[in-house]
Order: sequence, then C-alpha cells, then structure tokens
Amino acid sequence: MAFFSNLCVIMNLRPSNLIICENDTMTDVNAPQHAAHSLALQQLYSHYQAVKINDINDLKFSHGSVEENARLSAAGLTIDLSRAFINQEILDELILFAETMGLSDQIQALIGGAEVNNTEQRAAHHTALRCPPAKQHRAEVTATQHKIKGISDRLRSGQWRGHGGSVITDIINIGIGGSDLGPRMITHALSHFADGPNVHFVANVDPRDLETTLQVLAPSTTLIIISSKSFSTTETLENALSARKWLLTEMNQDDLSNHIIAVSSNNEKAIEFGVNAENVLPMWDWVGGRYSLWSAIGLPIAIATGYQNYNDLLAGAHAMDEHFANNSLTNNIPVLLGLLEIWYINYCSANSIAVLPYSHELRLLPDYLQQLVMESNGKQVSKDGEPVKHRTCATIWGSAGTIGQHSFHQLLHQGTESIPVDFILPLKSHSHEKHKQAHLVANCLAQSKALTEGKSISIAEQELLNAGVSNEEAQRLAKHKASPGNRANTIIAMDQLNAKNLGALVAMYEHKVFVQSIMWNINAFDQWGVELGKQLSTPILNTLQNDNSKATADTDKTTAFWCEQFINQNS
Ligand code: F6P
Repeated sequence: MAFFSNLCVIMNLRPSNLIICENDTMTDVNAPQHAAHSLALQQLYSHYQAVKINDINDLKFSHGSVEENARLSAAGLTIDLSRAFINQEILDELILFAETMGLSDQIQALIGGAEVNNTEQRAAHHTALRCPPAKQHRAEVTATQHKIKGISDRLRSGQWRGHGGSVITDIINIGIGGSDLGPRMITHALSHFADGPNVHFVANVDPRDLETTLQVLAPSTTLIIISSKSFSTTETLENALSARKWLLTEMNQDDLSNHIIAVSSNNEKAIEFGVNAENVLPMWDWVGGRYSLWSAIGLPIAIATGYQNYNDLLAGAHAMDEHFANNSLTNNIPVLLGLLEIWYINYCSANSIAVLPYSHELRLLPDYLQQLVMESNGKQVSKDGEPVKHRTCATIWGSAGTIGQHSFHQLLHQGTESIPVDFILPLKSHSHEKHKQAHLVANCLAQSKALTEGKSISIAEQELLNAGVSNEEAQRLAKHKASPGNRANTIIAMDQLNAKNLGALVAMYEHKVFVQSIMWNINAFDQWGVELGKQLSTPILNTLQNDNSKATADTDKTTAFWCEQFINQNS
C-alpha cells in the first residue's frame, strides 16, 4: 500500500504517462507474495521511493556511463536501450531482484532440459532443437532434421512426385496456434529466400480459409502437411478432413501417401487418419506448441526457403541461446529486456506493449508474439497455485511500420496511456530500391525520437506563430499539437533480415518471456486457460448440429437464443 502511494506521488510528476497509478484500486496489484519475491520487491519499492523522476532524462539507461554504452550486441542483433525508461540504479535493483528469484539457475535449468513445466511435469527444451542439437536429444533431433532435409530437398528439386507423376508446386500447412503462427511468420519473413514450392497456411475452422486457398490449387500438384502436436485439435482435424476429401476428387486412397505428411507426437492418431507411417514426422512432449517452429513443425520453412536457410535459422537461435546461457545477468539481452518490461508493467503500470517491425516481411511478428507472450505468461496463479498479487503479462500488439503510423500511432504519441514500444529495424533491405529503405528507416527513427522527445506547447505555439497564425489561434491550437514525449521505446536492429538474425530475434523473445515468468513466479509453459472454451464448444456444437440428445440440458439463455438463430438461418 505504502509503496504504491509513494510511487504515485513520484509518478504524478508525469501525469499523462502514468495515469493508472492514480487509481487506488491498483494499490495491491503489485503486492509481493512468496517470501523471496516479497523481500526483493520491497527492496526495489523502497529504492524507487528514493528516486526523483522528472522525465526520461532522469531515467536514461546507461550501461556504463555514456549513452553509446546503452547499446548491446549479440547474435547479429543490436539492442538500443538509450530511450528506455530506466536508469542504472533501478536496473541494479532489478538485477538484485532477479538474483533473489534464482534467475541464473533457472536459465541453466531451462537450457539444461530440467522439468521447468511443473503442471505438466515436462521440460521445455526447445533450445535442444537448435543447431547444434543438445546432447540429451541429439540422436532423435538429428534423425528428424535429416528427414526434414530429405523431404524438403525432394520437393524442391521436383523429385517428389504426386498423382500421375506431377511435380508438387504447392504445399498447404494445416495447423493452428504454435503449429501455424511460427512457420507462417518465418516463411513470410524469409520470402526473399523462397525459391521452392509455394507454401500456404490454413488455420481457421471457418471454411472460407481452406476454400479460398484451394480455389487456386490442383490436387495432383498439392501436398498437405497436417501439423498438430496432439493430433486432436478440432480446427486442424476438420480442415485436414476437408483437404483429404478435396485430394480424393482427383485421386485414389493409395495416391494419398504422396500428398499428405503429418507432424505430430501422436503417431497412432496420424496413422489412423490415413497418413503413411513414413510420412509422420515426430514431435516431443518436451517441446511446447508455441516453441515448436524449431522442430519438424518448421518443415514448411525448409520447403519454401531450402534446408540451408532452415539450418541458419536454428544456428541463429543457438547463438542467442549461448548468449543467454553464458552471460552475466547484467550483460544479457533477454534478461535486460525482460527486466525492463517488468519495470514498465509492475512499476510504471504499462498495460500493453507495442511491437512495430519496420519491415514488411516481418509484419506477422506481432501475431506470432501474441501467442508466444500471452499464452505463456497470461497467468494469474503462481507456480504453487496461489493467486498472484502482482500484475503479470501485458497485452502485445502492433503491426508493420509505416502502416501503423497512419492508424494507431496517434494513440502512442498523444493517448492518455504510455505504451512502451519495441521498434524492430533491419537496416538494409533485400530490395534494390535503396531510397525507399531510407524512407522506412527515417520513419522508424523519427517515431522513436518523437515518442521520446515529444513537442512542448511552447514550441508548438512558436511553430504556429512562425507560420503566420494569430496569437490567439496559436495558443488555442498549440495544446492540441503538443506531444508529451517521455514514452519509452527500444530499438532492436539488425544489418539485414536473414535466417540467422531472425532465429536470434525469435529466441531473444522466447527467453525474455521465460525471464519474466521467473520474476512473476508463474509457469510459462502450460496453457490451461484455453481448455474451458474447448470443453464448452462440444455441447454447443451438438445443439447447432441439432443433435439434442448430446446437447447439455442446462444451456444458458444467451447460448440457447443464438443456437436457435443459427438453426433458423441454416435450416
Ligand atoms: O489451444 C492452444 C493450443 O494448445 C496451443 O498451445 C497449440 O499451439 C495449439 O493449440 C495447437 O495444438 P496442436 O499442435 O496440438 O494441434
């Protein structure tokens, strides 16, 4: 309580940025819970009370003493924290907090394949899949990688033939969540390198998703990958059934073996579906769905861009793993980014974080990160099952720059809430139109500068006067034209978007999510929250399909009303 009141006094120096602090109901949101957590939070709270913060200049991150040192590089990425909203003293306290939470040991536990997922009693050993694979799983991972190489090489060279000897020109990946978002985002991001068959992605159970994809394809030249770790996800199975039916319009059951591949840990179910045993690539319990693009779930990436690019992606991720595992907390990019966001969310009351890639090819990154971040850390009980008393995950959103500048950036600049931003910036384009890339980069840098520096009312007024506007009008308009500034942002840059840098970028975000889960004392690797909706949909579906014998008797009135509307519309 006391902490928060004091915090608000300080924060009120910048009311437009941290309005939420004024709300008294927030006072116990960050209250510590278990003992170590409690002590560390208290220390940080008391330190914070002593800090006098007037504006971002009092909170300049200096990793050392000068601004240039606020840039850290690893695995092809450079992180610029000079416009982050934190200073060395606060960061030091956060590092102490991280030490109290045993973060260094936890990082080793993750990378070493310990059972970090305590509600499903599993490891989350996605780092074992990178290049080179970890010792514990080397044999099975290497065997699978050989299989990925063999399949992708044969498809790309035209050796893999479909019905009637046709060359496969199109691949459809049918999957959802982690079995879709990762390979979809990476395939789009590496489109410059795509020189294999066209890869399409179908995820939604809305029939129009598959239908519109099939419209331009022919069964004999199309191969379907059914991507499902569990092989029990309704959306995927429904789409797989429809796709199989479509294939059978042009071929016999026996021909399907050249047209369907599955990636799943449920071998039995995949074979039962009719996939040739040889065409079932494995998945493992120790890899979570949203961390699975590094496994055979990444097959579409290898098919589209070639095995070398797929391998480079794994190598880039491994380089980030090495950085994460071997650097002290103070020199560790995912750790610093994770702690910085803890600061924003738990102490500066940030409700959401925007990720803005200044790269058209990276436009799906925010969608991908939504699952990675929010399915991992959107939790409200601690690892011990106790309700957490501090805030956890913020909402992740964003879209490609410069597109967003002409829609939601207004809110970033002048909205009542301060939303921290990650700018992702590849400096060099694959396009020959260098002048356009200069436009793109200039816009990114201008957005970062504008968010940080803003524009004061007096400058806005002076500009209006210089433009010949009357005194009275200048005074009136200046208040609307001024921007508060002091809005935290981080630039995450790379020379150019390629498989290696992309692997490092994704691994960086994965590790940042893990760091935050440790600080919040939650399990980042389960997702029980998605189950309830799945459970409830079955009896509703039975009602919609008019099979009242299976429908639950106690359907609530709202659901019953809309079921009836659906039945009327469709009868
Ligand atoms: O519903 C959530 C989820 O379980 C995700 O975690 C997962 O990535 C997705 O569904 C797909 O699961 P599967 O690969 O088993 O079809």
